[in-house]
Amino acid sequence: MNPIFLIGYMGSGKSTLGRALSSATGLQLIDLDHYIEARFRMSITDIFARHGEAEFRRLERAMLSEVSHFENVIVACGGGTPCHFDNMELMNSRGTTVMLDASVGRLFERLKVGRRKRPLIASLTDAELLSHITAALQSRLPFYSKAQHTFPADRLDDAEQIAESVQAFITRFITES
Ligand code: S3P
Repeated sequence: MNPIFLIGYMGSGKSTLGRALSSATGLQLIDLDHYIEARFRMSITDIFARHGEAEFRRLERAMLSEVSHFENVIVACGGGTPCHFDNMELMNSRGTTVMLDASVGRLFERLKVGRRKRPLIASLTDAELLSHITAALQSRLPFYSKAQHTFPADRLDDAEQIAESVQAFITRFITES
């Protein structure tokens, strides 16, 4: 099976759903941020701080290109992965792309507690975070909407919701492929 790429904004549940799908199906999860961190032995925060975003995007593209050749994997991308170079075209040509679609309200709630490891939002106040999410979604939508499929991602916040989402995802994208 060619890779399934999970894309979507920070906090849309790519890693959460990816982990649950991996344990339900036995497909290997590749979390692109973790893959980059392991390869360069540096946290995403340190890569941004020491080398800048442009260098991070270059590394991200190189690692995306590498993993896109793997078989039987789910790739949880970073929120910005689709928006640089021709990364969407690359993913669409190598596998199945699924955009996780979460509302601004859910993203805000999740990122309020999960912003520290994310350099682009780490220093924002709550009010700034909310307007940042709204603006970033607007500007990223043209890239995200190149995904072949959209999957609802508001309900990924407890074990029961995750289990239901996993079943729905498997039925739509894995059983039939
Ligand atoms: C980013 C999202 C992050 C990570 C980096 C940049 C973005 O991944 O790749 O901090 O530009 O949206 P997550 O979406 O997994 O948080």
